Amino acid sequence: MAIFVTRVCVLIAGLSCLTFLEARPSSPYIQHEKRSHIPPGWSHLRKPDASTVIPLRFALKQSNIDKLDQMLQDVSHPESANYGQYWSPAQIRQTFAPSSTTVDTVRDWLLSSGVSAHNVRLTSSKTWIEAKISMEDAERLLQAEYQTYGHETGKEHIACTSYHLPAHISPHIDVITPSIHFDATLGRRDSFGSSHLPQMLRQPRLGTRPKMIGEAQSDVDDCATQITPACLKALYNFTYNPVSSGSNTFGIVVEYTPQAYTKADLNLFARNFSSNLIGKYPKLVSVDGGIVQSEALGFQYNIESNLDLEYAQALVGPKQEITLYQVGDMVISGSFNNFLDALDGSYCDYEGGDDPTYDSSYPDTDPDGYNGAPSCGITKPANVISTSYGYNEADLSPAYTARQCAEYAKLGLMGVTFVFSSGDSGVAGNGNLCLNPDGSQTVNGTIFNPGFPATCPYITSVGATQIKDGAGVTDPEISCEETIATGGGFSNRFEMPSYQQQAVNNYLAKYKPDYSADIWNSTGISRGYPDISANGASYVVAVNGTFARVSGTSASGPVVASMLAMINDARIASGKGPIGFINPVLYSSSFSSAFNDITTGGNLGCGTAGFTTAPGWDPATGLGTPNFPKLLEKWLALP
Ligand SMILES: *[C@@H]1O[C@H](CO)[C@@H](O)[C@H](O)[C@H]1NC(C)=O
Ligand SMILES: *[C@@H]1O[C@H](CO)[C@@H](O)[C@H](O)[C@H]1NC(C)=O
Ligand SMILES: *[C@@H]1O[C@H](CO)[C@@H](O)[C@H](O)[C@H]1NC(C)=O
Ligand SMILES: *[C@@H]1O[C@H](CO)[C@@H](O)[C@H](O)[C@H]1NC(C)=O
Ligand SMILES: *[C@@H]1O[C@H](CO)[C@@H](O)[C@H](O)[C@H]1NC(C)=O
Repeated sequence: MAIFVTRVCVLIAGLSCLTFLEARPSSPYIQHEKRSHIPPGWSHLRKPDASTVIPLRFALKQSNIDKLDQMLQDVSHPESANYGQYWSPAQIRQTFAPSSTTVDTVRDWLLSSGVSAHNVRLTSSKTWIEAKISMEDAERLLQAEYQTYGHETGKEHIACTSYHLPAHISPHIDVITPSIHFDATLGRRDSFGSSHLPQMLRQPRLGTRPKMIGEAQSDVDDCATQITPACLKALYNFTYNPVSSGSNTFGIVVEYTPQAYTKADLNLFARNFSSNLIGKYPKLVSVDGGIVQSEALGFQYNIESNLDLEYAQALVGPKQEITLYQVGDMVISGSFNNFLDALDGSYCDYEGGDDPTYDSSYPDTDPDGYNGAPSCGITKPANVISTSYGYNEADLSPAYTARQCAEYAKLGLMGVTFVFSSGDSGVAGNGNLCLNPDGSQTVNGTIFNPGFPATCPYITSVGATQIKDGAGVTDPEISCEETIATGGGFSNRFEMPSYQQQAVNNYLAKYKPDYSADIWNSTGISRGYPDISANGASYVVAVNGTFARVSGTSASGPVVASMLAMINDARIASGKGPIGFINPVLYSSSFSSAFNDITTGGNLGCGTAGFTTAPGWDPATGLGTPNFPKLLEKWLALP
């Protein structure tokens, strides 16, 4: 479509000239994006003034993004000739940068549509084109109708509900702003943790008070009632003494302020369970002003960080330094994208950058906030990164989850292992929310509600198991349904990756549940999760100066990550590289004997028994729990 500029001068109390773009179709317009309803908290105010000049931003389509899956397989499939040949950040940047054809096509279209050259700018990263243009011209250019909306906080935002592009331009553009995205920055969160942003903390759940163990701290007789580091070591035969000291990196936790560990609690835990760790703390990497705050203390602020760090430190021991990524300030905190920006400078403005609907925008203008530059490519990622936070897929827009999931794949190409806990509400989402047919989430919804990033095919999702009542550490575990139910199921967004096809198809062929197809994604083409699991029941944790017993996949994730970090240690000591993205290896036939298969229990939720465990992979416990000596042996045999 060619668009021509006409200059019209109207006489309304003086002469004012308006420039507008006139559309003469040469390639038909097609719809590029639309939204069906405005997000909660917003309402329509008025039609914006036609002459308002807006900066239209065009996020250009990246190159090779369709080959990402194949590229990741190439470096992470155990039978690939390029196994372990990870990419440099520069290679990532070059491979996915928009092509010059894309840049030229979009720029030429804007110029030929009458936008003057001095109003068109390509950003220095060459991933965006910006055009300063009047509202009226934007409406013609995009066949859109803009409106001004107001948020309950008082913030105003210009948006449309759909927009269109010429068919030959659409393939070169990801998104345009402002458009259907309600990506306005909304200030301060009302109180710690509660905000307009979707809640992503998976607070481990408190159980009964622990029994005092006293002298018998290495005792494993009581592991069915309470888990200690000695129980985990016994369950998974996990004994390993790091040897590659200094050259291995383990970013065990990503914590989101105001969540924080306390030194006193770490020491209290160390005194009882690992005395060689007294006075030992993680190395802090602060992202977007992240601090280990000590203003607000107590279970709700300290349990997640204390749990993650007490167990990771106890399992890897004092020789392996642990990196703590602490994300966000005390006012607006942060999200996964704020963290990913810090690890990969090419992600900060990739496909239009972060979305303020879900992510925090820095500098934070609040007087108590972090007013420094946003953390963008500030640190080299650790080899293994474990996160015990998560959303429900339905909390986030499809474009948002797709963009972030692709980033995990890129970090996998660089050799980073991402471990995420799979969720604590079985087939329901955080807060026991289930889906309704219209896509909304309520506690009385009946449709299974998968988690994110647990369903992203490029991370390793970890579920929870428990020891059966009265059983011991050498007996087979069951899926965790006590206090919490392990998260698992099938994505509504991501397709089944090739590495798990055989395992998941086996489950669907032999053990497919007979639930009606409208309460779960029974298509057989969707990503199944979790990938593996580890005990998540009744961990003894030091918090607020005492010991508590807590349960959750929040516990399972760091345990698996600790084992993976030690496998990296052994590989690095024998001159090999880190294990990188592990799923193609986990599901490969040579690793099938490296797990303890879980065949009892399920993951109840949404008023159902959820999925039941079965021989082989299942959507409650994945492939099973790790058998550390076997995993180590098999990974040492890989190049
Ligand atoms: C920690 O150690 C103290 C001193 O030995 C003991 O009294 C207490 O029971 C222990 N706590 C736990 C949870 O094991
Ligand atoms: C795990 O440890 C138990 C007890 O120490 C031992 O009997 C068993 O052989 C070990 N398994 C493996 C796979 O090393
Ligand atoms: C923390 O412990 C103190 C006693 O040491 C207690 O008064 C307080 O209620 C606890 N706070 C929380 C949030 O658990
Ligand atoms: C579900 O719960 C909501 C409140 O959370 C209520 O308004 C609604 O009527 C309930 N729906 C049904 C079908 O029970
Ligand atoms: C089921 O999953 C597939 C692939 O992830 C997706 O394309 C489809 O829309 C999902 N179905 C529903 C009902 O969400």
